[in-house]
Amino acid sequence: MARKISFINYKGGVGKTSLIVNTAAALAKLGKRVLLFDFDTQSNASIWLLKLERWNKLNATGEGAVYSIFDPGQAQVKDLIIKDVIEGKAGEKLLPGLDLVPTTFNLVDLENEYNGDPKRPPYQLFYEQLAAVESNYDFILFDCPPNILRASQCGVFSSNEIYVPANPDALSLIGFTLLVEKLQKFHQLTASFRRGSMGPPAQVQGIIFNSIKTGVDIEVPKMRMQLRLNQFKAAKRSAPTAKIFESQIRDAMVVRRSVALGLPVVLVSGEAADPGSTGDNVVNDYRRLAHELIQHVRA
Ligand SMILES: Nc1ncnc2c1ncn2[C@@H]1O[C@H](COP(=O)(O)OP(=O)(O)O)[C@@H](O)[C@H]1O
Ligand SMILES: [Mg+2]
Repeated sequence: MARKISFINYKGGVGKTSLIVNTAAALAKLGKRVLLFDFDTQSNASIWLLKLERWNKLNATGEGAVYSIFDPGQAQVKDLIIKDVIEGKAGEKLLPGLDLVPTTFNLVDLENEYNGDPKRPPYQLFYEQLAAVESNYDFILFDCPPNILRASQCGVFSSNEIYVPANPDALSLIGFTLLVEKLQKFHQLTASFRRGSMGPPAQVQGIIFNSIKTGVDIEVPKMRMQLRLNQFKAAKRSAPTAKIFESQIRDAMVVRRSVALGLPVVLVSGEAADPGSTGDNVVNDYRRLAHELIQHVRA
């Protein structure tokens, strides 16, 4: 059974996309079969992994992008998967095991124009289709925008686990707090759509700190986050096993540069060449995070 995971925070710009893409790549490097869904209409993850030229072709028609399972509704999730998505200049596969279901800008229509059958909301339809491909993967990851509107709902409803990317600042803490509130409401509203086989609705399993600058002490924001998490756990609004991850990702130029290169950090950085390296660098931050994620809450 694949572990289904959403990365989400009500705060934008905290590093949700960079964390999920780089963690997905690190997992694939470890031999895991990974499927990444881009549920953010801004399409950052899709443009990053496909590079602009391939993505532009999709965006021109919207065909092959995730919204096509809702409108016109003929596509199936299984037909949208781009296998081993990362390619080199000659079309050679650079990272086998990392697949993508991309989005284009038309996903925004899911929030407004879409008029589906109210008895079959988008998240329900998506969940049913996802079932057809689940057994092919170890990890299915959902990159969500900073809200729980319809696109995010697809990821959240199908997930077993939620992770919250955060920066060491007050806005990330507010974003986390808001997320837990909205998550609870969403789970209440959708309870009648859940089947026994789905397991319990996903709760926050972890907070992952990102973009930590060298020499900056993050003990105070970390402690505040821990206190809030403890409160949520006591109120059973976060998973009993939820924790702040020990692995945290440093602020590094190569993370920003990798986006422009259309590659995850594990394929860009010189340090990445040696898979056994334990050096103090951002590639190993992602590797440690991938290992910690594998160890955390075995499905
Ligand atoms: N560890 C990091 N080091 C340096 N820059 C980062 C790091 N993580 C994210 N960024 C940059 O911060 C910006 C926002 O990150 P992004 O992943 O798009 O956030 P979100 O998906 O939460 O909106 C991007 O420009 C990204 O390249
Ligand atoms: Mg994003």
